[in-house]
Amino acid sequence: MKVYVLGAGSIGSLFGALLARADHDVTLIGREEQVRAINERGLRISGVESFTAYPEATTRAPEGPPELLLLTTKSYSTKTALEYARHCIGEGTWILSVQNGLGNEDLALEYTPNVMGGITTNGAMLVEWGHVKWTGKGITVIGRYPKGGGEFVEEVAEAFREAGLETRTTENALGWKWAKAIVNSVINGLGTVLEVKNGFLKDNQNIREVSIAIVREGCLVARQLGVEFEVHPLELLWDTIERTRENYNSTLQDLMRGRKTEIDYINGKIAEYASSIGLEAPRNELLWALIKAKEGQSR
Ligand SMILES: NC(=O)c1ccc[n+]([C@@H]2O[C@H](COP(=O)([O-])OP(=O)(O)OC[C@H]3O[C@@H](n4cnc5c(N)ncnc54)[C@H](OP(=O)(O)O)[C@@H]3O)[C@@H](O)[C@H]2O)c1
Repeated sequence: MKVYVLGAGSIGSLFGALLARADHDVTLIGREEQVRAINERGLRISGVESFTAYPEATTRAPEGPPELLLLTTKSYSTKTALEYARHCIGEGTWILSVQNGLGNEDLALEYTPNVMGGITTNGAMLVEWGHVKWTGKGITVIGRYPKGGGEFVEEVAEAFREAGLETRTTENALGWKWAKAIVNSVINGLGTVLEVKNGFLKDNQNIREVSIAIVREGCLVARQLGVEFEVHPLELLWDTIERTRENYNSTLQDLMRGRKTEIDYINGKIAEYASSIGLEAPRNELLWALIKAKEGQSR
């Protein structure tokens, strides 16, 4: 399969390396330092598995269209990145987002009707340019966005599985995106405000109640929008916390590095969707405002 990975950071490089190792025709589109390192020494993966892959790497989106454009930038970069790669989105190209947050697939739909949405619970971290640590093995769920399946969805899932990524397909990608966003609204929202490891959100009795209330608020908004869940977000939350209890969430890590966060696309989007249908989401509103204040920005 001809695959372009748009956003060769942590998760994009991991997926790209695994697919390249499985002999797919992979091109990583990334920043100059990452591209130079990959072209000089290959792309090293450590952690869950250790190997070096040799995908193509470039800072410019190539001319010819791929079959699959894997969107792996942070959510705040999606619009610019899609615009940057507009010329290589052909009639037969499918875009798949495995990003966190809401709204990325809706942006992709402005470029092609062939859009898949997905979630991944794999963990990846850039150790240095050209070297990504696969920090935790997880599951990837993909489906046509907002709903439906199809031959190509199955083909991509099979390619992912052969590459070493545990993957299942869904007819309800929108439901999975919301379930993961609601999970992240607790882990990234509350976990960042409290500056705690993920496990604390479940272990501390008072905070556990707050976590449940935030999930309930997100579920109410989702259900009013007609979103249905295959897995209840609360079940997904406890499962995610169990597998990552010693981790600090990515929003907190971004703040500690002085980087922009994806909070506008997590608690921010839930609050915005609520307001668009005349609902209130005070817990998400508050977490969003507090993290924007920590970020030094207004919302
Ligand atoms: N890492 C994980 O374990 C993990 C797990 C599940 C889901 N996710 C989600 O996956 C998404 C990506 O996360 P990540 O941790 O992989 O982020 P990341 O390490 O920051 O990777 C994104 C990369 O894309 C680059 N980029 C942005 N716009 C670009 C463009 N127009 N052309 C080329 N490169 C561009 C970024 O460069 P700049 O930094 O210079 O902009 C960065 O190197 C997020 O939505 C995240 O929540 C991550």
